Amino acid sequence: MENAKRYLVTSALPYANGLKHVGHLAGAYIPADIYARYLRAQKRDVVFVCGSDEHGTAIPIQAAKEGTTPRAIIDKYHEAMKQDFEDLGMSFDIYHRTSEPIHHETAQEFFTYLNDRGELEIKETEQYYDEEAKTFLADRYIKGTCPNCGSDRAFGDQCENCGRTLSPDELINPVSTLSGKTPVKKKTSHWYLPLGEHEAFLKEWILKEHKDDWRANVVGQCKGWIEGGLQSRAVTRDLDWGIKVPVKDAEGKVLYVWFDAPIGYISATKQWALDNKKDWKPYWYDKETKLVHFIGKDNIVFHCIIFPVMLKLHGNILPANVPANEFLNLEGDKMSTSRNWKLDMRDYINDFVKKENGGGQCVDMLRYYLTQIAPETKDSEFMWKGFQDAVNSELVSIFGNFVNRTWVLMHKLCNGKVPLFHNDIIDDTDKELITEIANARTRIENLLEEYSFREALFEVIDLSRKGNQYMQKKQPWIVAKTLTENPDNQKLIDNCMHLCLQLSANLAILINPFLPNTAKTMLHMMKVVDKMLDWENAGSLKLLSVGYSLREPQLLFRKIEDEEIKTQVEKLKNGLIKTNTKMEEQPQGKPMIQFDDFAKLELKAGTVIACEKVEKADKLLKLEVDLGTEKRTIVSGIAQHYTPEEMIGKQVIVVTNLAPRKMRGIESQGMILTAEDIDGKLQLLKPENVVSPGSNVS
Ligand code: 2FM
Ligand code: ZN
Repeated sequence: MENAKRYLVTSALPYANGLKHVGHLAGAYIPADIYARYLRAQKRDVVFVCGSDEHGTAIPIQAAKEGTTPRAIIDKYHEAMKQDFEDLGMSFDIYHRTSEPIHHETAQEFFTYLNDRGELEIKETEQYYDEEAKTFLADRYIKGTCPNCGSDRAFGDQCENCGRTLSPDELINPVSTLSGKTPVKKKTSHWYLPLGEHEAFLKEWILKEHKDDWRANVVGQCKGWIEGGLQSRAVTRDLDWGIKVPVKDAEGKVLYVWFDAPIGYISATKQWALDNKKDWKPYWYDKETKLVHFIGKDNIVFHCIIFPVMLKLHGNILPANVPANEFLNLEGDKMSTSRNWKLDMRDYINDFVKKENGGGQCVDMLRYYLTQIAPETKDSEFMWKGFQDAVNSELVSIFGNFVNRTWVLMHKLCNGKVPLFHNDIIDDTDKELITEIANARTRIENLLEEYSFREALFEVIDLSRKGNQYMQKKQPWIVAKTLTENPDNQKLIDNCMHLCLQLSANLAILINPFLPNTAKTMLHMMKVVDKMLDWENAGSLKLLSVGYSLREPQLLFRKIEDEEIKTQVEKLKNGLIKTNTKMEEQPQGKPMIQFDDFAKLELKAGTVIACEKVEKADKLLKLEVDLGTEKRTIVSGIAQHYTPEEMIGKQVIVVTNLAPRKMRGIESQGMILTAEDIDGKLQLLKPENVVSPGSNVS
């Protein structure tokens, strides 16, 4: 296999609209990080870029939800995501952001280049428009029923349930997410990338050239797109948040987020080059660069079809591979932000990494499990019990146990020094292990080169398993008991410990791309410098010099207790209940209102002066409420939560300008406010301290 002259590794740029979960980590970040670390250990020229995706409708929508500005949202989540990635050991050479001027310039230049050469078409079409919000409804500003899976929460750009990329016109029963109203159609002009013109190129490049070296799921999805007929894709939007279309008279138009975001990989490379006094151009123009995009499966079309067409037209290199992962489910169900069924990176960091007995060990334990269950070919499942088993039965009992036994016995039976290997007494068991050590590197290397991280990691653990089996056969602790009778047997102990130590050093090199903190601890125990971890050293039996004294063992991994996983499962389930009640019916919340809408409500504090049950209505109470200047009769559905006696004398908040309504023949002249707890229990809203009846509430 021939090495490339240089490598550019990218991880999908996450939207800066919220914290990211471990599904994202397993899909686009950990595999890329393993690959980049492996390439660096090979001393290859590699740049690993990532950053925040800060445009698109997702940002202003989140800003509206949080009652703040898009700028405040991107600043907040950019920092938060950057910190999470740092805490989990992602070794990006740069974590950039698409709000930076260098990115805006790069994306505009890219657009201009294509536009000036006539590679884009301008078309006038009719698009959905919200007459109340007075805006076109791009992407997430419109939702409806997915034509693919029937979910009623599909957005105008994508269905989050099935991952299908959509256009607003495909939605069944489209509704504006701004006003909740059914939109109308209105004419507007946009720039389009005519993908159909590039069908022959895409067929040749993906379906022929890459049909064997790209993952089957990736080629399969691309085939579906190509054979389904490639439509022109709009690369601009009518929005006020985004990169301005660099054309005169294009007021109110910005680049489509999926046009600018992948260009973010280029601007990140430019910024990295500036920071490091390097030339960025060869990374994007020289055919000897190997460009590899790590993404989740919902991003395949953008990275394998649309962006490559853009790159080709712009004269750049094309990705050599796009190892896209399928999805990671959690405890038997799809991960979902709206249902709060997820494990955020931040939650794991707080509950494990930042805990007293956490740190690098816990980072590596998560990296291990997420790699072991990586959804490389099909969706997979994060189970807390599975996490516990992977840590306790593999990391602790196999890898950690081997290294620990080796160190303990070496201190006990060899004075804490690397013993000599006596060639004259080498036997078949030694030879077998030596062969295993020599062969492991190539096997693991081949797997890493073809992005089979799961299997590569399995091979590393398997090598440590072989170390345990070897030690079990040799039983140096039993041999030690024969030493008084037969001092020559020390040679048997020496050989066993010598090989186990050399194997441990090999394991440190091989595990390093996957579990860098573990490798570091092992380096410390071996008293050697980072250089030992160079990949070329793997397979060697001379990594630790004879007579060299080594440190005491350190525990590489701690056990995960039953209690810890029980807590996590409960936390997850409780979190789901919260959003499962009313919020699940309205995952996006109610449409945004203006202050004027709120100001139309008249709210007053009142005191209940009489209360009785409403006949033949289990849920209703009839209240007499004193509002200072008047008394009102109010019928309220709280009979299953409060008795009439309990209600008398209580203060309540009343909506006093609600049109009267007859309930069971009684005219209700207002409504009292309650909060519904997660178990469905209603609680009255009331002033903290008693106020005069009739007091205004605002
Ligand atoms: O799906 C997402 O989260 C996108 N923000 C990924 C963008 S990847 C790249 F193109 F920038
Ligand atoms: Zn769907």
